[in-house]
Amino acid sequence: MALFEVRDVSFDYGDKPLLSHVELKVNPGEHCALVGINGSGKSTLMQLLTGERHPDSGSVYWEPHVTYSYLDQHLQIDMDQKAEEYFYGVYANLFEKEKEMERLYMEASSGAPGFEKLLNKAERIGNELLEADFYSLQAKVGNVVDGLGFRKEDLEKPLRLLSPGMREKAYLSKMLLEERDVLLMDEPTNFLDPVQVAYLAQYLKSYPKAFLLISHDEAFLKEVADVVFYLRGGKVSRYKGTFEHFLTQKEIDLAQAEKDYLAQQRYIKKEEAFIAAHIVRATSAKAAKSRRARLAHLERLEAPSKEGGEVHFRFPYSKDTGRDVLVVENLEIGYDSPLLSPITLNIPSGSKVALLGHNGVGKTTFLRTILSQIPALSGNFYFHENADILYFEQQGNLDLDMTPFEYIRSLYPDFDNTKVRSLLGSVGVRSQTAMRPFRALSGGEIAKTKLAPLTQEKSNLLLLDEPTNHLDQKAKDALFEAIDAYPGTVILVCHEKDFAEDIIDMELRFS
Ligand SMILES: Nc1ncnc2c1ncn2[C@@H]1O[C@H](COP(=O)(O)OP(=O)(O)OP(=O)(O)O)[C@@H](O)[C@H]1O
Ligand SMILES: [Mg+2]
Repeated sequence: MALFEVRDVSFDYGDKPLLSHVELKVNPGEHCALVGINGSGKSTLMQLLTGERHPDSGSVYWEPHVTYSYLDQHLQIDMDQKAEEYFYGVYANLFEKEKEMERLYMEASSGAPGFEKLLNKAERIGNELLEADFYSLQAKVGNVVDGLGFRKEDLEKPLRLLSPGMREKAYLSKMLLEERDVLLMDEPTNFLDPVQVAYLAQYLKSYPKAFLLISHDEAFLKEVADVVFYLRGGKVSRYKGTFEHFLTQKEIDLAQAEKDYLAQQRYIKKEEAFIAAHIVRATSAKAAKSRRARLAHLERLEAPSKEGGEVHFRFPYSKDTGRDVLVVENLEIGYDSPLLSPITLNIPSGSKVALLGHNGVGKTTFLRTILSQIPALSGNFYFHENADILYFEQQGNLDLDMTPFEYIRSLYPDFDNTKVRSLLGSVGVRSQTAMRPFRALSGGEIAKTKLAPLTQEKSNLLLLDEPTNHLDQKAKDALFEAIDAYPGTVILVCHEKDFAEDIIDMELRFS
C-alpha cells in the first residue's frame, strides 16, 4: 500500500494553471526524485504534500500513522539550543528512559521494600534501550554529523550562531537521525560541499525507508533515485528506474510527443481549411459545422519543445588586469577570532578558480573580506588597479516584497519598461513572474534574477558564491557557457563537482 497519494490534484496561484490533474504515489522503501524545470511547481507540489498549501481540486492522502519530515528549500530555523542538544533531542524519550532506569536501580540498591519489582522494571527498560540501539547512539549521531561536516566547536554553538548553510545541515542531520517513514527534501544539496553531497548520496542509497527529493543536481540524482517523477506542463509522469534511464526515456517520450503534436497540428490545419472552404456552401455547410464543433472540443496538445523558454547569460568583459588580478598576503579572516590560518595567494588574470572547503570554513567570509564588506583581522590584499569586480552573493539580502521588475529598476533607474522586461526575459524570468514579489517566486526564478545584473555591467573579475544553487539544467548550461566564454577571472564557489571541474583551471582549498 502506498504511503501517500496525490489524487487528481489541480492547483494554481490565481493566474495560469500550475498543476493539473496530478497523480503521484510513493510506496514504502521507494527512493524517489521529483524533477522539472525552474518554476514548474515542484516546491508547490511538496507543500501540498505537507499540507502547507491545499489543492484547488483533488486530494492528498496519507496512510494513517505514516510519519514524515520535511526539508524546505527556503528553510528558516532560528534556535537558541546548541547543535548537539538539537541532534540528541531526537532521542529525548530514550534519554528519559535511561534516567528512569538509573533512578530505579538506585532505589533498588538502597534496599527499599519491593526492590525486586524495581529491579525487574529497570531491567525491562534496559532491554528497551538495547532494542532501540541506545548504546550506539553516539556513534550514529557522530557518523551523520561528521559526514555532513560539523566540527566539535560547531556542535557546541547555539544554532543561531551557525552559518545559514550549517543550520540547514543541522536540520538535514536531524532528519536523517529521526528516520521517519518518509523524508521530503526540497533541494537538500544546496548547502553541501562535494564531499558532503557524496556522503548524503551514500546515506540515502542505503536509507531503509522512503524519500521524495527535489534536486537539480544530476550527478546526485544518478546516485540516489530509483523512481523519477517528472513534472512538466502541470502533469507528473512516473519513470521507474535510475535517473539515467529517465533521461533516455524522457527523450524518447518527448520525441513521441513532438510527433503527436505535429500530427495534430497537421490535422487541425486540414480541418480548418475544410471548414473555411465549406462553411458557406449550402451542400456541405452541415458537415463543416459538425467538423468545427469537433475541432472546438479537441484537446489541444502543447508544443513539447516550448517548455520554459530560453535562458542566456553573457558577462561583458571590461579590460585586462596584468599578470595577477589579486594578491593576498598573510590575510586573517573571521569575526572575533581567525577562521583559518593566514592566507597567502595570488590569482593570475583570466584564471577560473574554484574555492573549495567545507561549509562554514570561511569561503564566503573570504570573499566578503576582500570586498571590504567585513574587516580583515590582519594581513593585506591588493587588487590590480584595473580590476572591475562583480559579486554574486549566496545570501542576497533581497527585499522579499520587491518584484524582479522593481529590483532591476532599482539598479538601473534609466532602463525603460521594455528594457527591464527584456533583460529579465533573457535570463529566463518571464513577464508575469517579473511582477510578483520575490517571496512568491521559485528558487530558480530568484537565482536567475540575481544573475541578471552580472550580464549588464562590464567586469574582469567575477566572484560567484554558489551560483548554480536552484538553477535547472538549462540555466546551468547557460551559466557554464557564459563563464567559459568570459575572458576575465572567475572565483567560483560551487558544490556541484561536475560543473566546477569542467570549468576551472585552479583550485584553492581552505581547511
Ligand atoms: N505565492 C505565490 N504566488 C504566486 N505565484 C507563486 C507563488 N509561489 C510560487 N509561485 C509561482 O509558481 C510557480 C511554481 O513555483 P515553485 O516554487 O513550485 O517552482 P519549482 O518547480 O519549485 O521551481 P525551482 O526549481 O526554481 O525551485 C513559479 O512560477 C512561481 O513563481
Ligand atoms: Mg523549488
